[in-house]
Amino acid sequence: MKNKFLIDKLNENKALSHSEWLKLISDHDNEEREYAAQTAREISVGRFGKNIFIRGIIEFSNVCKNDCLYCGIRRSNSELSRYRLTKEEILSCCEEGYNCGFRTFVLQSGEDMFYTAELMCEIIREIKKRFPDCAVTLSLGEKSEEDYRLMFEAGADRYLLRHETADETHYRSLHPPQMSWKHRMKCLEDLKEIGFQTGCGMMIGSPFQTAECLAEDMEFMCAFKPHMIGLGPFIPHSATPFRDKPAGSLELTLFLLSLCRIMLPDVLLPATTALGTIDPKGREYGVLAGANVIMPNLSPTAVRKKYMLYDNKICTGDESAQCRACLERRMNSIGYSIKITRGDHISHD
Ligand code: 5AD
Ligand code: FES
Repeated sequence: MKNKFLIDKLNENKALSHSEWLKLISDHDNEEREYAAQTAREISVGRFGKNIFIRGIIEFSNVCKNDCLYCGIRRSNSELSRYRLTKEEILSCCEEGYNCGFRTFVLQSGEDMFYTAELMCEIIREIKKRFPDCAVTLSLGEKSEEDYRLMFEAGADRYLLRHETADETHYRSLHPPQMSWKHRMKCLEDLKEIGFQTGCGMMIGSPFQTAECLAEDMEFMCAFKPHMIGLGPFIPHSATPFRDKPAGSLELTLFLLSLCRIMLPDVLLPATTALGTIDPKGREYGVLAGANVIMPNLSPTAVRKKYMLYDNKICTGDESAQCRACLERRMNSIGYSIKITRGDHISHD
């Protein structure tokens, strides 16, 4: 355990230098991973108890103007049949979710220009009116500062926008030239400035990612201090240019989850669906490595298979209530339980 002292240093709330991050990320063994997981778990149990927050994701449109090389709903995927949910359909997902105990709804879509800020605001206001005790999280990609502000004023509470990678050159290898890393980073700054509980994050094991990139990710997050971090393994999708690239590893994903928890003790950290996809017990392991949130799907069963960001995504055949019951069982099996609450970040409680 030659790098245990770096985990301890992080746990003492000290920033690691670039070379220390590099060392920790590129050179760690089972024992160090287990030590990090245990440290992270103690922190999350100390802050949240053995309680897991749940968020219901409503994937309301798979139309996307972007062409990210890793993503299954990219514009160039002509094999995919595209759908858009109406406001009423979205509201009935919320209704079903509310009855299952969800108090946060995540509205997620591709970058679909059909849903203008005006339309989104209408949807947000209606959700807040019908479910005043619920939080609304948006995950709609890059928008103008003005649009973000309008949606915040309409009542949206949180926004998820993964930075994808803190390394500009790496960003360029994952995205077409029309997309800009600087613009993405500007969006994240805007979101936080406006007052959203803001989430960033990245895939682990994405093509061309090096330990250097991950070190930069950790340093970026240490400075940015997101309220939420979305972190899951890259999984190839058969209709993308990265179809033959290997998936990210379970162990490395869990290790980074633990390091995120130790670095930002209050952060809302989901055990992602992608983690549950690369291993049947992935989400349980994620919780045991320091995650405290699970984000099951609330989308209508009829459209779930059309929102495949990567191959073999789990839960695409299940009803929302089945997922809720399944997660309850899964969390109970490791001694945790699901909490019916909005689950805000402590700074916004
Ligand atoms: N594997 C894993 N995660 C993916 N995402 C998109 N495509 C994939 C994939 N092939 C993630 C991205 C995006 C989030 C919504 O899903 O990080 O920000
Ligand atoms: Fe969806 Fe288990 S969480 S079936």
